[in-house]
Amino acid sequence: MDMQQSELLPIGTGLLTEPSVTSHVSAHYNSLIVEGLVSQGWAVIPDYLDPQLCEELRAEMLRYHEQDQFRKAGIGPVEERQRNEAIRRDKICWLEGATPAQRKYFELMAELRQQINRELFLGLFDLEAHYAVYEPGDFYRIHLDAFRGRSSRVVTVVSYFNPHWREEDGGLLNIYDSDDRTLVSQILPLSGTLVCFLSEMIPHEVTPTAQLRCSIAGWFRRNGSTGELVDPPT
Ligand code: OGA
Ligand code: MN
Repeated sequence: MDMQQSELLPIGTGLLTEPSVTSHVSAHYNSLIVEGLVSQGWAVIPDYLDPQLCEELRAEMLRYHEQDQFRKAGIGPVEERQRNEAIRRDKICWLEGATPAQRKYFELMAELRQQINRELFLGLFDLEAHYAVYEPGDFYRIHLDAFRGRSSRVVTVVSYFNPHWREEDGGLLNIYDSDDRTLVSQILPLSGTLVCFLSEMIPHEVTPTAQLRCSIAGWFRRNGSTGELVDPPT
């Protein structure tokens, strides 16, 4: 993704993909995320993304949705598709840094990635991310985003783009304890909120939603060959 971003930078900025200025606020938030990852494997920051960026990303998402650009996640042979549909019902559309709003999102995530690398030495080298829409009735049953030693996904980042949300709208992100799988947190998918967790460690689920639910799910990946083994289908 960094390569694509750098190709899109205006002439004169060279091939510098690492942002040089990090605002105080996001540096502070990024430290809180690192602390959360260390102490419990996950972190939630409300208002991480600014309202204007959230509006732009939401508008884009709704436009792509209207233009039928979203696809069911994990399409495969019929049996696999059925199994998949019992687990997840969202539709996705990959981000490719095609618009200023997407590039801003990737820039912010690059800052977060660098801070995680500086403090935790995880050697995260890029981010793959997709828009996801859950229509009324859609859900994503309890799962892990990566299986130990079988995936390059290390840290998950999810952000939300829904200006209004109440508990009765469903579509909550439930976070479970990594050992005994008891419910430890329920997060409303409200605009600006960012959730970050260790992909191999934290079981989580999206409860059935009653409203259209817009989000971006992303994964910071480690650079390393996983041989024949690939990430879980998305
Ligand atoms: C995922 C996922 C959580 C959410 O896409 O893997 O778990 O809150 N998303 O959208
Ligand atoms: Mn997940």
